[in-house]
Amino acid sequence: MKAFSYDRFGGGDVLHASELPDPVPGKGEVVVAVQARSINLIDIRVRSGTMGLLVNKRFPKVPGADLAGEVIAVGPGAEGFKVGDRVFGAADPFKGGAFAERIALSALNLCPIPDGLAPDVAAALPIAGLAALQSLRDLGLLKAGQSVLIHGATGPVGLFAVQLAKRTGAEVTAVGSSGLDTARRLGADRVVDYRNGPGLPKGLRFDVILNFSGKFPFALGRALLKPDGRLVEPSPTIPLFIGSKLGNLFRRKKHMALAAAVRRADLKLLADLAATGALEPDLAASFPFDATREAYAMVERGGVIGKVVVTS
Ligand SMILES: NC(=O)c1ccc[n+]([C@@H]2O[C@H](COP(=O)([O-])OP(=O)(O)OC[C@H]3O[C@@H](n4cnc5c(N)ncnc54)[C@H](OP(=O)(O)O)[C@@H]3O)[C@@H](O)[C@H]2O)c1
Repeated sequence: MKAFSYDRFGGGDVLHASELPDPVPGKGEVVVAVQARSINLIDIRVRSGTMGLLVNKRFPKVPGADLAGEVIAVGPGAEGFKVGDRVFGAADPFKGGAFAERIALSALNLCPIPDGLAPDVAAALPIAGLAALQSLRDLGLLKAGQSVLIHGATGPVGLFAVQLAKRTGAEVTAVGSSGLDTARRLGADRVVDYRNGPGLPKGLRFDVILNFSGKFPFALGRALLKPDGRLVEPSPTIPLFIGSKLGNLFRRKKHMALAAAVRRADLKLLADLAATGALEPDLAASFPFDATREAYAMVERGGVIGKVVVTS
């Protein structure tokens, strides 16, 4: 099958078109003929070789977690799907595999695509949508009437979080730069451009802070949390992961580390919202499969508002 792969860690130049063996479904797996994928930062971090022990050194590696397509084979014990089903979901982001014509992955990582949802829109949802949903609901414990600061609201995860927080009934403050009009359109009550002005209005306190920018760590953010507030760290290191859990035993304000889990129920929740127009992935650009390198280059240059997808 056709794929894009790399044989060593590095920049975008290590990614090349290749021919790889067709995947065979293992126990609990299905094979999906991929029709669309979307790019996440984690793809680029894995390729760069900076993820330490989280990523093995076996090559070739195929990037990409998010995907949508059609089931073409069902392995032993893979429940819930048959050949011909339209599905979307995510491969293990540390392993990748979506930038190929076909992929074998656990059936548990997939969900049927609801009627009315196009594969490219479905492929834009998984990792960024799950990270936003689980940050707000499972780690932030956000409730109606509470206030949330989304620091880094104009990236793909932040834009999903703005919409999901608004749907929860929270008051949303969004910090970002050029995508703030989009954040406002998608539901932010207050937008703050980090490039200029006085920053956040004085005196504001939040129930939940999401540090999607990576520039608002707990040491800085805790002063802006309400007494029982929670700050979510989306890219924790292993020491931070352990340290925050231990520290939380001794403080009211909590520092929560995110490791987004690919769960069918959460994929379904995102897809159902997207199918009714209640959640917008805001597709920034769509590339054909042969232009995979250009798609990654666009994301790596920065300044993209929304998700970049690669189809067929
Ligand atoms: N743990 C998990 O399972 C998981 C899963 C998915 C994502 N993540 C993490 O979630 C985070 C967000 O992902 P993403 O794809 O949305 O990232 P992204 O595209 O890099 O977005 C980063 C955001 O931070 C903003 N920003 C940059 N510099 C800033 C500054 N100095 N002050 C305030 N805001 C600033 C950017 O604004 P502008 O672009 O407008 O300048 C943008 O809104 C990343 O750390 C990612 O690794 C974690």
